[in-house]
Amino acid sequence: MPARATRLVIDVDTGIDDAFALLYACASPRARLVGVSTVVGNVDLASATRNTSAVLALARRAEVPVWPGCAAPMLRAQNDARLFHGPSGLGYAELPEPAAKPAPMHAIDAILAAASVEPGALTLVATGPLTNIAAALLREPALPRLLGRLVLMGGAYREGGNVTPAAEFNIWHDPEAARIVFRAFAADGAAPLVAVGLDVTRQAQLRPADLDHLERRCSGLPHGPALLRFLHDSSRHYFDTMEKHTGARVFTLHDPLAVAAAIDPSLIVTQRATVEVETTGTLTSGMTVADWRGVWGRPPNVDVAIEVEAPRFLADFLDAMERLARG
Ligand code: RIB
Ligand code: CA
Repeated sequence: MPARATRLVIDVDTGIDDAFALLYACASPRARLVGVSTVVGNVDLASATRNTSAVLALARRAEVPVWPGCAAPMLRAQNDARLFHGPSGLGYAELPEPAAKPAPMHAIDAILAAASVEPGALTLVATGPLTNIAAALLREPALPRLLGRLVLMGGAYREGGNVTPAAEFNIWHDPEAARIVFRAFAADGAAPLVAVGLDVTRQAQLRPADLDHLERRCSGLPHGPALLRFLHDSSRHYFDTMEKHTGARVFTLHDPLAVAAAIDPSLIVTQRATVEVETTGTLTSGMTVADWRGVWGRPPNVDVAIEVEAPRFLADFLDAMERLARG
């Protein structure tokens, strides 16, 4: 009996790695993508929403509903990550204007509706700031008991941050929202909160040679040319920025790893910890503070990813792209 496909809603701030995560989810036979909600983060909400629809069309999944969510963080001034993702949010890639329009339902209502269809069956994956998830929790405090799991790309638990020495972008962008989310999943009966942070995503590096290898596998396949053009043109912006800042042409697959770990938890090893989010620190705002030694004396609320089978993930990601190219 084949294992039941994982029912997914993915909450994205489509940028380049969010786009790769969506392509991966669309190509996974073990995932059933119920819908995609969008949130401000890497780019403004309208751009994230348009990019999401365009990427789903590229994957020939334009039927997947796209639910626009929050256009600003809860309290902080809006920020973005266009330095890495480019003005459009998809690097140098140019995708056709999507024919599909966003669904009329707001992300908050859509997430709650999807979680309520079959309590315990839905996996919600967050690959952007947690503004939509926090707003949904304020609307329906029972959400942690309605979900099967929440898997989020965010935080840095034994690692330093990527926006400040202390904070990772998705948490830093809306720390008040993140605090609401991490606290809500400490409640009795809450579904697992799995945090896929920089500790493991930094090991999920795509290199230009990987794309060259993929080119040889896919250029002759029916949907290969369009997909490869997108993968090259979007990631090249990230490669250029990383080379400028670090000297290395690498593209960290933060969001695709979170989706992959949601579909196949065996890719990561997790350790439970009590985690709080710093919201007032001058130097540490947005820091995910993990109490590994139980100093606070409070029960753990997060399954923190501490190890990853990065080579197996990368091979699986490239296989998924070939499946997408084959159609
Ligand atoms: O820190 C990495 C995260 O911030 C990723 O989700 C990336 O898309 C950006 O949103
Ligand atoms: Ca993201």
